[in-house]
Amino acid sequence: MFSKELKSALRSAKNIVCLTGAGFSAESGIPTFRGEKGLWKNYSPEELATPQAFLQNPELVWEWYTFRKKLILGAEPNAGHFALTELENSVEKFHLITQNVDNLHQRAGTQNVTELHGNIFKCRCFRCGKDFEEGLPLQEEIPSCTFCGDLIRPGVVWFGESLPFNAFSDSAIFARSADFFILAGTSAVVYPAAELPIYALNEGAFVLEINPERTRLSTLVSESILEKSGTVLPELIKILK
Ligand code: APR
Repeated sequence: MFSKELKSALRSAKNIVCLTGAGFSAESGIPTFRGEKGLWKNYSPEELATPQAFLQNPELVWEWYTFRKKLILGAEPNAGHFALTELENSVEKFHLITQNVDNLHQRAGTQNVTELHGNIFKCRCFRCGKDFEEGLPLQEEIPSCTFCGDLIRPGVVWFGESLPFNAFSDSAIFARSADFFILAGTSAVVYPAAELPIYALNEGAFVLEINPERTRLSTLVSESILEKSGTVLPELIKILK
């Protein structure tokens, strides 16, 4: 499954950085964004994950997030998540950058995680930005801000919004300093996250892409494996044993 170059790059790696996307959680039963199953009540994520959609119909957007939170709470981390935790424990330096908001990497035990697009279990006021933890049971009705009274929104990054303060600049530094970079489960179409593997490549890192489908980065990376992350990563860590 792996080339000689890949094995040698991985064995000598001192600083591994990984970027994950929605496909990484697909094997946990969570639909990706751009696949057919990403649709909910015939709406695409692009129609619901925007500040405009929330302003127009906050109840609908909140309902979609409640649906997704329930799905995630009923899901478990998969073999890919656990393999990354093992990888983190096997190398000197490891950093995981994720576009996922589902907390599954943390539930699998990975420690060094930067969430580029926020976390679905956090929320904040739409107006004054005060942070709230929703807690359990999930609230079916949109709560109001205890500070200014405006509506509470999911604590994720929507289309057209900037990434959390420092999350991208820190990730850019991690990517540039990696000697081995793994890109797994992302269609690499959403910027600026899709730039991170390019930063790593430009600084001479070995970049491995894991995705059952080709992406626009497949021909640029050092090696592209057209398989599921939950299949490839448990095999990858055996190289270090
Ligand atoms: N293993 C690895 N990759 C997989 C698997 C799997 N088991 N199943 C699907 N994939 C791949 C698909 O081929 C696709 O390229 O995962 C990718 C998922 O792509 P998207 O749905 O576009 O997800 P992502 O790249 O994370 O999207 C980025 O867009 O909507 C926003 O904020 C949202 O974080 C999200 C961002």
